Amino acid sequence: MKYLDSNDDLNIAIEYIKNGKAVIFPTETVYGIGANALDRNAVDKIFKIKGRPQNNPLIVHISNMDMLKELVVEVNDIEQKLIDKFWPGPLTIIFPKKDVIPNNVTCNLETVGIRMPSNEIARKFISECECPIVAPSANKSGKPSGTFLDDILDEFMEEDVIVIDGGQSEIGLESTVVKVNNGIIEILRPGYITYDELSKIASTIINKNVIEKPKENEQVESPGMKFRHYAPSVKCVLVVGEKIDIEKKILNEIQEKINENKDIKIEVLYKYNEPTLKLERDNIKYICMGKNDEEISKQIYHLLRDIDKRKADIVYIESVDKKGLGIAIYNRLIRACEYNII
Ligand code: TXA
Ligand code: MG
Repeated sequence: MKYLDSNDDLNIAIEYIKNGKAVIFPTETVYGIGANALDRNAVDKIFKIKGRPQNNPLIVHISNMDMLKELVVEVNDIEQKLIDKFWPGPLTIIFPKKDVIPNNVTCNLETVGIRMPSNEIARKFISECECPIVAPSANKSGKPSGTFLDDILDEFMEEDVIVIDGGQSEIGLESTVVKVNNGIIEILRPGYITYDELSKIASTIINKNVIEKPKENEQVESPGMKFRHYAPSVKCVLVVGEKIDIEKKILNEIQEKINENKDIKIEVLYKYNEPTLKLERDNIKYICMGKNDEEISKQIYHLLRDIDKRKADIVYIESVDKKGLGIAIYNRLIRACEYNII
């Protein structure tokens, strides 16, 4: 692994891409691990480095609209409105794809997910590579997405990649993924661009797998939604309801656990303000996820990664409300908790 400060010359990273290798670069959402989207072998390397299942397609990143024309069959009116309003930015749109895109990018689907990031380093990098860049989030498959440089360096230390430092990711959650069907915008993965914002463009629906567990053999619209994702190896439980009810539930749970084993190590990840109902003991740790949903979004993956370092026996996580950015956070938390919800 090689490391580049964002002020360094990007040439060595661009050489890497031209030679069919992988480069980790910052975007406004999370870091991506990128390769030339038109080079089938380079794309294969990304699947290999991440340990990514062969049936989970990649997003293609572009730096200008000419690139889009090369990649997709057509752009309909609603898609054009979405582009005008949200690009460059954290929105991925699923389009019918042209044949230039190798089949391994899309895992043989006829569609391709495309986005133009707003992060300046990302756009400069893509534009200087002079090719579209596939980039899944920079993490080993199943782990929380990379948003902190240290987490990324830890995880990819042994790999032949270059990492471009862009500081902590601004948003911290991946892009909103949408598909336009018969005039309706369907949200396949919620993100920073919310349901309310999209609804101003056209009528919008949220795919049911966004906030529910997909059935065992269910065909899901966004393949990424069915894989084990973000979950620490320590058991996590998501606690839902009004803030005060959440606090009551957690306190009850803690008391029960302590009655069974007085030394059990418990963590509580709480939102916004310190819980009013708290049990002060050495083996119970309270950690703030953020003062508001923006802060939670920004820190959540780093917090989830840290859970495994501290090795508690069980972690209770206060859920956020399913509105605005909260929908995207909730979507990640139910997966981190492997659908253990109380
Ligand atoms: O913010 C982001 O989107 C980040 C940064 C690096 O841009 N990238 C990212 O990529 O999150 P990844 O690979 O971790 O997630 C891609 C998601 C997956 O859930 C995948 O199933 C979905 O997009 N996807 C990709 N192509 C698709 C397609 N043709 N149809 C439906 N879903 C697709
Ligand atoms: Mg990912």
